Amino acid sequence: MIHTSSFQGIEKTIGMRSQKILLVEDEKNLRSVLAAILEAEGFSTTQTESAEDALAVMAGELPVLVLTDQRLPGMSGTELLARIKERWPRIPVLIATAYGEIEQAVQAIKAGAEHYLTKPVDEGELVAIIRQALSCRGHTIPPRSQDLPRHGIIGESLGTLEILEMINLVAPAPSNVLITGESGTGKELVARGLHVASPRAHAPFLAFNCGAIPLDLVESEIFGHEKGAFTGAVRSQAGKLEMAGSGTLFLDEVGDMPLAMQVKLLRTLQEREYTRLGGNQPLRFAARIIAATHVDLAKAVEAGSFREDLYYRLNVIPLHIPPLRERREDIAPLVRHFLRRVCTELGRPEVDIATAALAAMEAYSWPGNIRQLENIVERLVVLNRGGTILAADLPNEMRTTETERILPFGGAYDLHAVEREAVLSALNKAQSNKSQAALLLGISRKQLHTRMKNLGLVVDREDVSGGEKL
Ligand SMILES: Nc1ncnc2c1ncn2[C@@H]1O[C@H](COP(=O)(O)OP(=O)(O)OP(=O)(O)O)[C@@H](O)[C@H]1O
Ligand SMILES: [Mg+2]
Repeated sequence: MIHTSSFQGIEKTIGMRSQKILLVEDEKNLRSVLAAILEAEGFSTTQTESAEDALAVMAGELPVLVLTDQRLPGMSGTELLARIKERWPRIPVLIATAYGEIEQAVQAIKAGAEHYLTKPVDEGELVAIIRQALSCRGHTIPPRSQDLPRHGIIGESLGTLEILEMINLVAPAPSNVLITGESGTGKELVARGLHVASPRAHAPFLAFNCGAIPLDLVESEIFGHEKGAFTGAVRSQAGKLEMAGSGTLFLDEVGDMPLAMQVKLLRTLQEREYTRLGGNQPLRFAARIIAATHVDLAKAVEAGSFREDLYYRLNVIPLHIPPLRERREDIAPLVRHFLRRVCTELGRPEVDIATAALAAMEAYSWPGNIRQLENIVERLVVLNRGGTILAADLPNEMRTTETERILPFGGAYDLHAVEREAVLSALNKAQSNKSQAALLLGISRKQLHTRMKNLGLVVDREDVSGGEKL
């Protein structure tokens, strides 16, 4: 049977009648709840209780998105997905599966599903994932008008507003979140925002960086250890998972986690149980897991360096933070914000910025994103004498055009600058992916790393004091 309804509201839905979402769910109550949630968000819905009916509806009118249950009386959700992809490959399909059926979700994604939802479906998660699916296909999504809390996140670009929206929508859910984005885009800031906006805010937020740490240490840090578990373990120690209590555990650079630890983490997430290193007492945990990575985990999965099942367990809610060069409207407010902050911290009168200087900053590509911008503003303030930052005060790469910089008028070639330019431009083209940048430059990844070090374009992981990070 086919049920159609559409939100008979005010202007919110005007011009959006065509934005119809097709819901395929055999359980009547759940179907009405889903429809009510989506209609309150300004979408129209068509509902069917079987895949067969869904196809009949689609032969008449195409929805902008299909949300289907996996388990249906006749044809299954994945079969429906295959049929839809055959005829209408561009229509995004979301599949809802039971919590324990992650394998089916993985299969569905391989067969072309946009994403999956685990049952019981969380309202915020549902709306967030539908908004993402539609916005990355260029659909205008209904605005949610309320003033959103900012959690220290500055910026007025659509990209930033959408992130604030996502934080607001998914913070209350217990589901794992995977935050992706280049270095310095604000992944940790967003993770903290998610924590603060959640009912877990009263409990701890603990961050752990999985990068470049040997297996034993990762395991002992996350799971804790018992006395005598390894040389030097003079007393037992709780791990981060335990210490976070009902708070949030932020696993930073999760893409660098050793494979053996990935297996243990996967088991922990599935069973919600783990043991301390050297212990045998199973412990339960309540913390929410937010993971972050600057590498493309889907590619890491293909390359075999990241476990596929863990990827899907962590990526329940994907949250991508675009690089700063894709949200240039944020540059001016960020510069002003950091100017104010640095001046206050240094106890100096406010420093201003000339229009030309700001324009040059807005035109720059910011390979190190907001962290780089923050560092540069700090340096500019510290070095500033006149009370206003001028275009001439900016670092070379922001001031001049490429040719001017490399071939100074009447001057000699500056090999160092040429090399720096080439490396920066390759990194920029490769969106900071070092392997790709190395490929563009025709050198190995290791050679690129050495060059970046020599050119002062990278700081060692241990060196956290200032410096641009790429
Ligand atoms: N939208 C923003 N508004 C204000 N400050 C920001 C914003 N985004 C990032 N920052 C600041 O920029 C710096 C880098 O952010 P953060 O550490 O969260 O980035 P990251 O993506 O985790 O970087 P990395 O990959 O290098 O770990 C921090 O000092 C953070 O407070
Ligand atoms: Mg970080």
